[in-house]
Amino acid sequence: MPTLETVVDGLKLPNPFIIGSGPPGTNANVIGKAFDEGWGAVICKTVSLDASKVVNVQPRYGRLRSRTSGEIYGWENIELISDRDLSIWLDEFKQIKDEYPDRILIASIMEEYNENAWHELVGKCEDAGVDSFELNFSCPHGLPERKMGAAMGQDPVILREVCGWVMAVAKKPVWAKMTPNVTHIEDPTRASLAAGIHGVSAINTIRSVLGVNLDTLRPEPSVEGYTTPGGYSCQAVKPIALRMCMEISQMIRSEFPGRTLSGMGGIETGEDAAQFILLGSDTVQVCTGVMKEGYRMVQPMCEELLAFMEKHKFETLADFKGYSLPFFTTHADLVKRQAEARAAKKAESKKKMITADAQWDGDDFVQQSDALARG
Ligand SMILES: Cc1cc2nc3c(=O)[nH]c(=O)nc-3n(C[C@H](O)[C@H](O)[C@H](O)COP(=O)(O)O)c2cc1C
Repeated sequence: MPTLETVVDGLKLPNPFIIGSGPPGTNANVIGKAFDEGWGAVICKTVSLDASKVVNVQPRYGRLRSRTSGEIYGWENIELISDRDLSIWLDEFKQIKDEYPDRILIASIMEEYNENAWHELVGKCEDAGVDSFELNFSCPHGLPERKMGAAMGQDPVILREVCGWVMAVAKKPVWAKMTPNVTHIEDPTRASLAAGIHGVSAINTIRSVLGVNLDTLRPEPSVEGYTTPGGYSCQAVKPIALRMCMEISQMIRSEFPGRTLSGMGGIETGEDAAQFILLGSDTVQVCTGVMKEGYRMVQPMCEELLAFMEKHKFETLADFKGYSLPFFTTHADLVKRQAEARAAKKAESKKKMITADAQWDGDDFVQQSDALARG
């Protein structure tokens, strides 16, 4: 019987399914619900020192649906990080760890470009008992106006410096969450890992414009008739997320062996998760999927992942982590491989061809007489 249990950066998880930072981890009540339903770990909605600077708007979500089934496959949000007071969060961290001492609670944190602010936030969260950190360097909207989130995540020099600040004081494992809104995801990843962080998470949302309302002629989601580019998530982003996770994994393997990856972007099934693990993820996160389907989705996801493992006779997640990575190559190499395969096939069929009466056995009259006629 295969097992989903795993240990990542010293954190013991019953399964690799983690609630990604966002509305599904917005307070102690829902985090408790996620643990009750069986999630392997929970990352809270991103917290910062001064929540009074965080002002959200309504509406802040927009959805794309299939024209045929109506199912949501794309989701844009212009939501900011948590607007709840840090003191409330710290009480809730303590409360959650009292109730669920064996479960993994990860604090997603974000601050301005200020060493003392990062030190203060890390220290307060550790005192409240969180098990580890995810540094949010990746929110694509709103926060960059304060030089936070993706504004830091897009600048490898700043990223390395800020990760260094955190590593100087953190006693718990630290992951840095990457923004996909860069040309080469390897650049910010390398900068963070070079600063000594334990692992990376990828991807956050992709900067997007959901659409334009053809009655009002206003872009959406519309706030008093105006909008701002937001972050795109859900099934539609999975191929982009898989590509970036593949690139991060290749880099971790060659330059930072032993560091970890938490993959996400459009995961809704155990099969989706299997693909992220095959491309090198140690754990997988789900955010929008939970907003669509609820916390209970973790049970079928676990069953689907176990069924996949049974089919291939994998006993542990480590048995197939990164298994599919060696099958990526360059286009030039694909051309070479295909030319070689075609030449080999041609040589093989030539060998089977009848070119002389001596080879004639008459078993397949039509094929053999055709070959003789051509020969
Ligand atoms: C409504 C919403 C709010 C989010 N808020 C945060 C956040 O506070 N911090 C963060 O790091 N990521 C946030 N995210 C990004 C998700 O954690 C995740 O990186 C992204 O949505 C891709 O995964 P998914 O397709 O499973 O949602 C948010 C996503 C959504 C949809």
